[in-house]
Parts: sequence; C-alpha cells; structure tokens
Amino acid sequence: ADTCFLFSGLIGCSWAMVFAAGGFKVKLYDIAQQQLTSALENIRKQMKELEESGFLKGALSVEQQLALISICTDLRAAVEGATFIQECAPENLELKKKIFSQLDLIVGDNVILSSSTSCLLPSKLFTGLKHVKQCIVSHPVNPPYFVPLVEIVPHPETDPSTTERTYALMKTIGQSPVKLNREIEGFVLNRLQYAVISEAWRLVGEGLISPTDLDLVMSDGLGMRYAFIGPLETMHLNAEGISNYCERYREGMRLVLNTFGPVPEFSGEIEQKISQAMSEKVPVVPKVLDARRKRRDEYLTGLAKLKKQMKSD
Ligand code: NAI
Repeated sequence: ADTCFLFSGLIGCSWAMVFAAGGFKVKLYDIAQQQLTSALENIRKQMKELEESGFLKGALSVEQQLALISICTDLRAAVEGATFIQECAPENLELKKKIFSQLDLIVGDNVILSSSTSCLLPSKLFTGLKHVKQCIVSHPVNPPYFVPLVEIVPHPETDPSTTERTYALMKTIGQSPVKLNREIEGFVLNRLQYAVISEAWRLVGEGLISPTDLDLVMSDGLGMRYAFIGPLETMHLNAEGISNYCERYREGMRLVLNTFGPVPEFSGEIEQKISQAMSEKVPVVPKVLDARRKRRDEYLTGLAKLKKQMKSD
C-alpha cells in the first residue's frame, strides 16, 4: 500500500523514514520543490549515518529505502493511490483545517486521513468534513525513529475501522501505538508530562530542591524504570500486586497528593531561577543547544538499542 506525507519538515521526514524502513512506498508532498529536494537530501544523509552506526531500521538497504520515497508538489497527484495520508504541517489550526478541507474534496472513501498534531483536538480539526469517518490523529513523539509511541486519537465520528487500521499500520512499521477512546486536551502523553513538569516547577519554586537536582530525580531515579515499565506496573511490582500496593500506600499517596499546590504560572521569579540554572548547564546558544540535542538523540538511540536487545533476550 502507498502512503503520503504532507509537508517535509522535521516530522514529515521522520515519518517518511519510518515508513520507508517498513517497506512502504512513500510520497512526500510540499509546496516548494526546493524544500522537497533538500528534505530528500537530508533523509539520505540521515539514513547513511544510521547505516554507519548500525541503527538503520528495517530489512532494506539505504538505496532500497530511498527508492521507495518520491516527492511531489501537486496535492492531487501526491495523494493519488495512497491508502494512508499523514498531515505534518506546522501546528496551526486554520492551516491544518484548510489542508483537510482540500483533502476532503479529492480523496476517496477508503483512505485514512491522519494528522500529526501534538495538541489540536480531532473535533477542532475534522468536524464537518465529508470524510470525517476516515479522520484520525496519530501523534508521534520526536524523534519517531527512536521513540516508537504513537497516540491514536479518534474524532467522535471516526469509524472504528479507521482506528483499527491505523493501529495495525503503526504496529506493522514497528511503532508502538496506543488508542485513546476519546479526545482530551493534551492527549495522554502531555497530560503525564505536564503533571511531572508542574510538580517539578512547584518544588523548585518553593526552594525545596535545586533545578539540576530535580532533573536528576527523574534521569537517575524514576526515569530509569519508566523506560521499560510504566507507572501502573511499577505499582504492581513494588508490592504484592496492585491491591496490595493500594492497601499499603493509598493513604500515604493521598496525604502526599493533597499537599500538591495549584497550577503554576510558569513565569516571573521561578521562571528566571530555572532559566538561569538550565542556561548555566546548557547556554541558550544555537550551537550549544544543537549539540545537546544531538547528545539527547544519541542517548535515545542507545536506549532504543538496549530495549530491542533486552526484549529479544
Ligand atoms: P516543521 O516546521 O519542521 O515542518 C512544517 C512543514 O510544513 C515544513 O516542511 C513547511 O515547509 C511546511 N509548511 C506548509 N505550509 C506552511 C506554512 N503556511 N507555513 C510554514 N510552513 C509550512 O514542523 P514539525 O516539527 O515537523 O511539526 C509538524 C507537525 O507535527 C505539527 O503539527 C507538530 O505539532 C507535530 N509534532 C511535532 C513534534 C516535534 O517534536 N517537532 C512531535 C510530535 C508532533
């Protein structure tokens, strides 16, 4: 089956690489030929680097994977024959709505129309479309090549078969899909992330711990197990099962949770304090930030490798 990715930015190119690694034909669409040419160059460069470091995904060689990817600046031609279309435009509701209403006019009844949006709700994106039954959000995590989670979020009118097909497709290419039964602000990943961020912000704001030590609590503590085992299974294992955990810890948990403060403003003195501490560690200079991002991706690559190896043990 053919897939089509609308816009060749960071996420569009990442999806294209993941699908090509899975053996799918990929069409990359963008408005400008120049953008597409440099996107392809970039993909080739990344694939070569991945091959050299032994991290290229899939059974196909770089050349075989590249041969699966074609580029197109005509929307109608780009989506022709595709069974799965993933929109990867900038996070702007009006722009995305415009794209989906254009697609609505030219696609058939069988294709899946999926959006990469990080936080726009399906009801905002897809309501009123003729093909709303075929519409869904597939929210990736950056970089999808090494972080496999995809949050699948239906519109209230999305056909269950659209959800199932999207889920199955993500599985086929080796991503790790999860289904939300209905939409909610922040989906699930960002709700969990914001819960952690907001308590981190409060604790540092209260002067209880330094910003760098706060980060260590996650990276050298909680995060160690979360890379393999989620919070619910962690509970299960930290006692003789969930019921035993609740019996032992429910009161303590509720006591602690009742001491949580209000939603932070994320501004003012606390912002300055955290900004200063983080900038001392990683100065806000493009070159330094990029180097640190590169390092972050190397960590993720290593972790992905370790996870794969331990799963196959
Ligand atoms: P990006 O800025 O890297 O790419 C956007 C692409 O859209 C570019 O290729 C650009 O040429 C094209 N484009 C089309 N119309 C445009 C217009 N009117 N103005 C500007 N650009 C236009 O964005 P990115 O990061 O790839 O994000 C795409 C989507 O993926 C967004 O909805 C974002 O929320 C979502 N997403 C992003 C993640 C990330 O970490 N970057 C993670 C998960 C989802």
